[in-house]
Amino acid sequence: MSADSNLLQPIVFGAISLANRVVMAPLTRCRAGAGNVPTDLMVEYYRQRASTGLIISEATQIMPEGQGYPSTPGIHSAEQVAGWRKITDAVHAAGGKMVLQLWHVGRVSHSEFQPNQALPVAPSAIAIPGEGYTPSGMKKPYETPRALETAEIPGIIAAYVQGAKNSIAAGFDGVEIHGANGYLIDQFMRDGSNHRTDQYGGSLENRTRLLMEVVEAVTAAVGAERTGLRISPVQPANGMSDSNPQETFTYVVEKLNAYPLAYLHIAGMGVDQPGAAGPTFDLNSLRPLWSGKLVVNYRYDLAKAEAAIAGGYADAVAFGVPLIANPDLVARIAQDAPWNEADSSSFYGGDEHGYTDYPVLSAH
Ligand SMILES: Cc1cc2nc3c(=O)[nH]c(=O)nc-3n(C[C@H](O)[C@H](O)[C@H](O)COP(=O)(O)O)c2cc1C
Repeated sequence: MSADSNLLQPIVFGAISLANRVVMAPLTRCRAGAGNVPTDLMVEYYRQRASTGLIISEATQIMPEGQGYPSTPGIHSAEQVAGWRKITDAVHAAGGKMVLQLWHVGRVSHSEFQPNQALPVAPSAIAIPGEGYTPSGMKKPYETPRALETAEIPGIIAAYVQGAKNSIAAGFDGVEIHGANGYLIDQFMRDGSNHRTDQYGGSLENRTRLLMEVVEAVTAAVGAERTGLRISPVQPANGMSDSNPQETFTYVVEKLNAYPLAYLHIAGMGVDQPGAAGPTFDLNSLRPLWSGKLVVNYRYDLAKAEAAIAGGYADAVAFGVPLIANPDLVARIAQDAPWNEADSSSFYGGDEHGYTDYPVLSAH
């Protein structure tokens, strides 16, 4: 592949102009500092990856209750906003664009993360099987969460809005609402984790109400042209199950057309995992339903990514693990150079090792 690669063509997502169609997928790296404030090492990490058309930040909690892993950054305190500002300044100075992924983990949290050691909140009091993280990095059995009262939901939506406004104040080009991977919004959408009997549970319209209200409120606050959304129709992680994901996500994507979002991001993650809805779910069926720009993700290599764009299945491709290991992925695509392998032992937590020290192509 070379400079005439599909991936290297520019594209416009709403108010955001991308120099190319290589998107950095959101990647939790658990390296925030005290107070979950972004660090100078994080500035360097993102700066190194600024040649991608768009960087999506690691998932970032919108409120203390939304955290579920150690040392993940937040976007709810003034110190966090100031920390992110250094990152967006560095990315912009290097010619890049960046959005922040707005996150509430819901029942994936543990009381040790919660103010006053309260139980984590969720649509329903249904625990995830197995063990999750505590702030020390040790794993403990997931707790049975507390079902949110109907009257508490406007406060959650307000936290998404504040997170979005704080992101713009921190210099981001926009936000990505995290509706994927078994976190709070996804927990509401799936009938396995949502047994509510109020207007946020039961029918498809009710289960997707939180998503739609968050989309409505965030787009009203910062503009649809600066708002993206990530969904993961086939992802079974974090105890997700859904009796009819094809129906759920056909409904979601059709309804989202009412909002001229900067982009929709579909993560195919889980498609080949046990228990995934993958074998019966046709991800490509969502493309013709969506009138806006589409980003796809999950184990794309160069050939698959080029083909997805050439075939009209996607407008851009997000790369996760390849961008952990190849900060200069765009140059490697342009020069048809090989890609470094990632070391998964340094994905979560630690220092610059496996974070900012991956080799780049030498200039010639
Ligand atoms: C270390 C790591 C951290 C991740 N963190 C996030 C995250 O914060 N938000 C999210 O939506 N997905 C997250 N994901 C999923 C990735 O965005 C992506 O969907 C996944 O890695 C598959 O894409 P890939 O095959 O290009 O790596 C993470 C994946 C990995 C490996």
